[in-house]
Amino acid sequence: MIGGREAAFAFRSTRSSSPVASQSSKMATGRTQLQTFLWVAALGLCGTVLALLTVAFVRAYSARPSTAARPAFQALKDSQRRVEAAFTPRERRELKLVLQGAIQLQTVSFSADDQNTTALAEFGSYIQKAFPAVFASTFIQHEVIGEYSHLFTVQGSNSQLQPYMLLAHIDVVPASPEGWDVDDPFSAEERDGYIYGRGTLDNKNSVMAILHALEFLLRRNYQPHRSFYIGLGHDEEVGGQKGAKKIVAKLESRGVRLSFLLDEGSFIYDGIVTGIEKPVATIAVTEKGAITANLTVMLEPGHSSAPPKRTSIGILSEALTKLEQHPLPNLFGHGAEIMMFEQLAPDFRFPLNIIMANLWLFAPLVGKFLEQTPTTNALVRTTTAITMFHGGIKSNVIPPSANATVNFRIHSSQTVDEVLEIVDKTIDDKRVKIEAEDAFDPLPISSWDDHTFGVQVFRQTILDVFPEVGSIVPGVCIGNTDSRHYGSLTNDIYRFNPVFFKNTDLPRFHGLNERISTENYEKQVEFIFQLIQNSDINPPTESHASLHEL
Ligand SMILES: *[C@@H]1O[C@H](CO)[C@@H](O)[C@H](O)[C@H]1NC(C)=O
Ligand SMILES: *[C@@H]1O[C@H](CO)[C@@H](O)[C@H](O)[C@H]1NC(C)=O
Ligand SMILES: *[C@@H]1O[C@H](CO)[C@@H](O)[C@H](O)[C@H]1NC(C)=O
Ligand SMILES: [Zn+2]
Repeated sequence: MIGGREAAFAFRSTRSSSPVASQSSKMATGRTQLQTFLWVAALGLCGTVLALLTVAFVRAYSARPSTAARPAFQALKDSQRRVEAAFTPRERRELKLVLQGAIQLQTVSFSADDQNTTALAEFGSYIQKAFPAVFASTFIQHEVIGEYSHLFTVQGSNSQLQPYMLLAHIDVVPASPEGWDVDDPFSAEERDGYIYGRGTLDNKNSVMAILHALEFLLRRNYQPHRSFYIGLGHDEEVGGQKGAKKIVAKLESRGVRLSFLLDEGSFIYDGIVTGIEKPVATIAVTEKGAITANLTVMLEPGHSSAPPKRTSIGILSEALTKLEQHPLPNLFGHGAEIMMFEQLAPDFRFPLNIIMANLWLFAPLVGKFLEQTPTTNALVRTTTAITMFHGGIKSNVIPPSANATVNFRIHSSQTVDEVLEIVDKTIDDKRVKIEAEDAFDPLPISSWDDHTFGVQVFRQTILDVFPEVGSIVPGVCIGNTDSRHYGSLTNDIYRFNPVFFKNTDLPRFHGLNERISTENYEKQVEFIFQLIQNSDINPPTESHASLHEL
């Protein structure tokens, strides 16, 4: 994932002892008070508005997502020929070694024009050796796109079924050895049941899990019924212009329409959501938008002995101060984040269940609560980050110009234009020139209901592989992924990494000691192994879905 973490770390437990949570005890106290406040608010209501509460209870317990679609799906599933995962000890060893080899190749993206192309080329040869069945298969076509990205077309036996697509990326962000528990972030060292290394979560785990799951299916003589594509981008961390964009262009030229697409993004949150005991599988249905804005002030240069009242630096500083002091509005309840809270409502312990089931009433209160930490704040509004500032040339010269860069991440209920209009009004100073670049709107919200094929497949596969998961809910990605380039191929894009994510994992993303447990990695491979088989089922709702599309 690029530039930001997924937002569901949300409601980080106040009992948490993670480094991030303890960064600010003030914030933690604030949160405890807020939680108490929520309790009091709810209990207060209990005492006074009995009728309202009755409604609330009914809502809380009727909001549970319907499981009606499952039995039919199950019945069909049993009529198909399935192969068992049941990985042997030898296969499990192979899984680990092959992942370690992939981590050891330093496929680093330093910037859009500076990538380790030696390692990217080596990666291409590496997967050919590691997955002989995939590369030898008569019904799988492999293409190298944009020199280092890979596109696989797996031809299913039933061409009537609409294909789907799995995405992952090969490149990683830089890592220097300082601060790591292991000697080298590219050694892929195993310690206490974990493989440590850059890319173990973001995102070589997915690259290797997809290919290995397919390899094991082929070795068990499985041929998929439904066609699918695998897209492995090589520049996701620096925007995906050379990889993902070109893969999309190729598929567009072939007239491909996808049933759904699955990329990295969100996780199975374990012990992270306050008030929910069981792990929560969060599948992101959208991503925030972004704007990189350059602010420039130009004034006549002169000598500092007779200065004008204001210099370019002073004027620009004032504009930036206004931006920080007037954040964009809290929009909790107006965007896709509400779906997650509503669907999770019945799983919260009392009284949070009542509050979440009645966001029509409590949204402002919950919104205020979520504002308190940077990650949850990112969920409720368009965020503002001043990232660069330049000004001045000499200690006794009036600066001719000053400029700054501000990075906005756009809430799913706003657009680039709306944000720029608000920014303009907030700064309200003609001397400050604002130029937007790299701007894109929040991504469209993918379908989330019992009739959506992708959602059925994810639900079934999570039930099959992770029985301990208590809830499966839609979420919002506050960072961006390669999948944002795929909007022309499908409306149903999902972002999910089938990996357990605990409080202490938060700083590992793009940070120190990134790691995955070998047990979890095997489960991730099994997830893809079952997902491919579950996608071969032709559920009763699909004819409805395709009719809908015509
Ligand atoms: C590039 O990758 C190769 C192979 O993994 C490695 O030997 C080399 O040190 C890397 N170079 C940089 C600058 O990261
Ligand atoms: C915006 O600022 C950045 C950083 O100074 C610079 O690299 C970029 O070229 C600028 N873009 C425009 C359109 O001025
Ligand atoms: C930003 O300001 C610095 C210092 O005044 C100047 O050197 C630089 O060229 C400016 N950059 C842009 C993109 O305007
Ligand atoms: Zn990533």
